[in-house]
Amino acid sequence: MLPLTLFSVIYLFAPSALAGSVQINGSCSQSNNRLTVGTYEFDGDCDSVSFCNSGGVCQAKGCRRDIFPFGYAQDDPNLPKLCPSGQFCPDEEDACQSLIAVGGTCQLNRDDECQPPPNAGDLADNRFGTNVDGAVCLNAQCYWANVTLGQTCVVENTPYIVYFSGGEAIDIVSRGNCQVGLYCDSQSLQCTQQLALGATCVADKECSSMNCLASGVCGEAFDVPRHFGTWVYVVVGIGIFGGMIGTLVGLFFLHARQRDQEREKRIQYWREQNAFRQNIMQMRDTARASLLSLPLGGGTNSARSTLYDEQSPITQHQQQQPKGSGLRKMSVDDVGSDGEMDLANVVREREDDAPRFRSARAF
Ligand SMILES: *[C@@H]1O[C@H](CO)[C@@H](O)[C@H](O)[C@H]1NC(C)=O
Ligand SMILES: *[C@@H]1O[C@H](CO)[C@@H](O)[C@H](O)[C@H]1NC(C)=O
Repeated sequence: MLPLTLFSVIYLFAPSALAGSVQINGSCSQSNNRLTVGTYEFDGDCDSVSFCNSGGVCQAKGCRRDIFPFGYAQDDPNLPKLCPSGQFCPDEEDACQSLIAVGGTCQLNRDDECQPPPNAGDLADNRFGTNVDGAVCLNAQCYWANVTLGQTCVVENTPYIVYFSGGEAIDIVSRGNCQVGLYCDSQSLQCTQQLALGATCVADKECSSMNCLASGVCGEAFDVPRHFGTWVYVVVGIGIFGGMIGTLVGLFFLHARQRDQEREKRIQYWREQNAFRQNIMQMRDTARASLLSLPLGGGTNSARSTLYDEQSPITQHQQQQPKGSGLRKMSVDDVGSDGEMDLANVVREREDDAPRFRSARAF
């Protein structure tokens, strides 16, 4: 693809860029005006902004054919004018001229130089451009593209050189003055009906689609939009809506799981708090019981040591120990028989995954 593109670019710009080197006021010869071999592009001595006048001097161009012609900046004040309707700018681009009547001399591939027929609207080929407003320039002569089926027609075959990455080849462009839908057969010189899609062909002009494939059958026209089967729309539709619904369902289950996890955390937190509360109540009861059972005037030490043992899991000293040990010990030792293993598990889990609950231990 790249080499082909590169070739096309060189092919398109090289002739214009190389067109004449003589600048304005330089001398030239009109006899050097010619069409380039293979591309049939107009060429002469003068550069891209001048033409060779009858005095043999390069002179600034008097008209232009393109809206943005080669050799000029877009806002160039010297940009020559476009010709008004009813006139044309010849290949030399020296000055606008009036349209040429049927039978008059025109330049190669310049159907726009010829006067259109009165019924231009009926004869014009606006799709493939085989004529301009029903007029056509064949063999340097103006015609109208009005010949009907079976009538004698005029044909013009022009061999162009086409360049591609593998080299170059000849491409013969065959044109005639038949009406739209017909072509001028080169052998019989009669207007013949164009072929439908899939018919056997040897030239583009034989096909109503103007596209004779390499396989020798008429193919789709190049301007036909690509159509996709209904199943493609169905698949794309399913893809779009399936994706949307799938996302919604996926998010629903994801959030449901997150909600469950949060709820579980809150339940565990509640159990933990409840266990601590019971633990404290028990400690208080134990302390009260041991205080009441104190022998008067003695045994203070043993009572204090008991109290200290009961409190030990939640003191500052215990808290700085490696996590888990103190609290679990306390839970298992001190919590009442119902649910004590459960609480031990809860505490272990809490310490593993939720630092924010650690403050609960220090209350
Ligand atoms: C060309 O010559 C004419 C008269 O001889 C002069 O007025 C004009 O400026 C010249 N143009 C250029 C581009 O040299
Ligand atoms: C068809 O066009 C030719 C010129 O190519 C013209 O002389 C002739 O009168 C036209 N015929 C009709 C029927 O318009």
